[in-house]
Amino acid sequence: MESTAAAVTPAVYGDSDRPPRGDYSRDGGVRADYTCAQDWASYTPADHDTYRRLYERQAAQLPGLACDAFIDALPSLGVKDRIPRFDEINERLYKATRWEVVAVPGLIPEEPFFSLLANRRFPVTDWIRKPEEFDYIVEPDVFHDLFGHVPMLFDPTFADYVQRYGQGGLKAHDLGAGEKLARLYWYTVEFGLIRQPEGVRAYGAGILSSVGELQHAVRSPEPHRLPLDLLRAMRTRYKIDTYQSTYFVIDSFADLFGKTAPDFTPLYEQLATLPDIDAGVVLPHERDIPAAG
Ligand SMILES: [Fe+2]
Repeated sequence: MESTAAAVTPAVYGDSDRPPRGDYSRDGGVRADYTCAQDWASYTPADHDTYRRLYERQAAQLPGLACDAFIDALPSLGVKDRIPRFDEINERLYKATRWEVVAVPGLIPEEPFFSLLANRRFPVTDWIRKPEEFDYIVEPDVFHDLFGHVPMLFDPTFADYVQRYGQGGLKAHDLGAGEKLARLYWYTVEFGLIRQPEGVRAYGAGILSSVGELQHAVRSPEPHRLPLDLLRAMRTRYKIDTYQSTYFVIDSFADLFGKTAPDFTPLYEQLATLPDIDAGVVLPHERDIPAAG
């Protein structure tokens, strides 16, 4: 097998008293790029049942809340009544956009993460939450990563955006701007909204895989919904333990792809001179985009 990195260590983001979750020293090994084999045989009937129930509950609430691209691509995940084998998904995904999913044991550090994305390989955590975590889990698990992220990778323009993000991430890492760029990922890939003719809809995986945040993000009058401006989004702090209080809205995936085409170096220089903005704060000149009806 490929070189098994004795030095592979789990990544920890934010403050936590708990040890990182996931088996980074498993039999068969975790490779130097943090990928591993999907340990499909180790899933129990209860694990498959958890996936089935999560899928069923979430799929039922997508109409009117999820964007068209997501709803159209969801069947491409294949089986709904058990955890899919990544290889099965890859047969369809590679044909559609030349992306593939790869198994990882849990959260991985910034640089290998960016590197996988830059090579059109999407890291998917292979373990699933316990039944008592059915409604809420802190770390991404296989349900969040597969159901939330992978359907969007079937959209050619969005798929190109994620690769470009990875390429930009490697550059940002070298420039010490990884934290600012991570906010762009947060406010697009994880919590992005898109305008459709009938109103705003969700395309971000953090929204699409959450039982409560879909309604909150798309329909609730509470949060702010601002047009995506790169500088504004990268100045905005975010919270990981509550629903978002500000979302950023794009007009189309082509719009998102176009906005991220230029070199970000001047943006990082500007960001270094500007104060951060707290989540939920709206500046005097900003106007909210209405919630979906
Ligand atoms: Fe995610």
